Amino acid sequence: MAKLVALCKRRGIAFPSSEIYGGIGSTYDYGPYGVEIKNSISRLWWQEMTLSHDNIVGLDSATILHPKVWEASGHLAHFTDPLLDCKNCKSRFRADEIDVAKCPVCGMTGTLTEPRMFNLMYKANQGPVEDVENIVYLRPETAQGIYLDWQIVQETARLKVPFGIAQIGKAFRNEITPGNFIFRTREFEQMEMQYFVRPGETGPALEYWKEQRWNWLLSFGVRPEKLRWHEHEKLAHYARAAWDVEYEFPFGWSELEGIHDRSDYDLSAHQRVSGKDMQYFDPTTNERYIPHIVETSAGLNRTMLMLLCEAYREDVQAGEERIYLSLDPRVAPIKAAILPLVKKDGLAELAEQIYLKLRGRWPLFLDIQGSIGRRYRRMDELGTPFAFTLDYQTLEDGTVTVRWRDTLQQERISKDRIGEYLTEKLGERI
Ligand code: GAP
Repeated sequence: MAKLVALCKRRGIAFPSSEIYGGIGSTYDYGPYGVEIKNSISRLWWQEMTLSHDNIVGLDSATILHPKVWEASGHLAHFTDPLLDCKNCKSRFRADEIDVAKCPVCGMTGTLTEPRMFNLMYKANQGPVEDVENIVYLRPETAQGIYLDWQIVQETARLKVPFGIAQIGKAFRNEITPGNFIFRTREFEQMEMQYFVRPGETGPALEYWKEQRWNWLLSFGVRPEKLRWHEHEKLAHYARAAWDVEYEFPFGWSELEGIHDRSDYDLSAHQRVSGKDMQYFDPTTNERYIPHIVETSAGLNRTMLMLLCEAYREDVQAGEERIYLSLDPRVAPIKAAILPLVKKDGLAELAEQIYLKLRGRWPLFLDIQGSIGRRYRRMDELGTPFAFTLDYQTLEDGTVTVRWRDTLQQERISKDRIGEYLTEKLGERI
């Protein structure tokens, strides 16, 4: 992890936020290349979860919802973690993560307080006056926005059960023990899809989505032995069944994403508290019912961390240590580098011409300065799959070398075929 965290900072992928003020505890900013990775993952998730299904559409709901939402959803009462303090070293823990007999930091026995339940909701005040009357909460999951809007979405998109609504957006949790870099932070992004089915049909939907999500993760080249299923015995307050996909991170097996049977828990709760009819009218059978819901809930930042952990590689090339990210080209922040071997003899100008012709179709990097070895290393550390190098032969026959990041194999292609080559390998960007 330490090596990956250092690489992310060195290469502008992700780094601590507010650093000039000493940081603000497990809060990260995503630099130019981190943004590209994150955007690629969310774009691929969106493509998989909405564009590839006729019956799943998107939504972008507000982050701050009516406070009653959180009363109805049960988050105000139940979205808590058990918190413990060590009276000796003042460290703080989640009771469900440690052996409560002994403080894991100072090693003293009998110094841990009794657990007290700590609510994870972030509070704010809406409007100019700070008052208990105008407390609002930052959403701890994107799902509730979907539940509030499901009828207008269903009507306007003319959907019939079963159908899904997908959303990507920020969520906030005042975590007791954030950590492990971007694995658990207080501000993060979720990619959630709520699938609405007839009562009694959550079982097959859960199985279907488990398979879909698993296959999506494998499509990135993740080694299957690094993934496993974990069925929850202790369920969240809203869940009737819950499965996590776990990944073996460098700090151990941990939750990557979840698939939950939420039954009619949320919609019934909103119907009860708001007084609004949350039923669906089935035009084919003339039935009215509250749909049941299966959700798939993934963390964007956590998916990114998993892909970075999977991609991190070290090898030795020509006696020199090399670090590279073997990222799926679809998520590599830069898809190709255009590199003149030297700056002189018209090679830099020619490289710039090629770059300008292709710019805008994919994120490309034109790198003219410095030794070619250094430029390759920089691209390898960012996981750039292809490097097109212009050399003296380019001036003679118009060909460039293509260097593939992982094997370092090189081939020569015409400089006029670079766009075609990238389209073949990467497809057009969606
Ligand atoms: N709507 C259901 C829900 O929110 P969850 O298991 O609490 O379920 C879903 O969260 C996913 O969101 C997790 O599997 C994880 O990927 C991500 N996630 C949750 N808390 C997180 C945090 N503090 N930091 C980063 N990602 C988090």
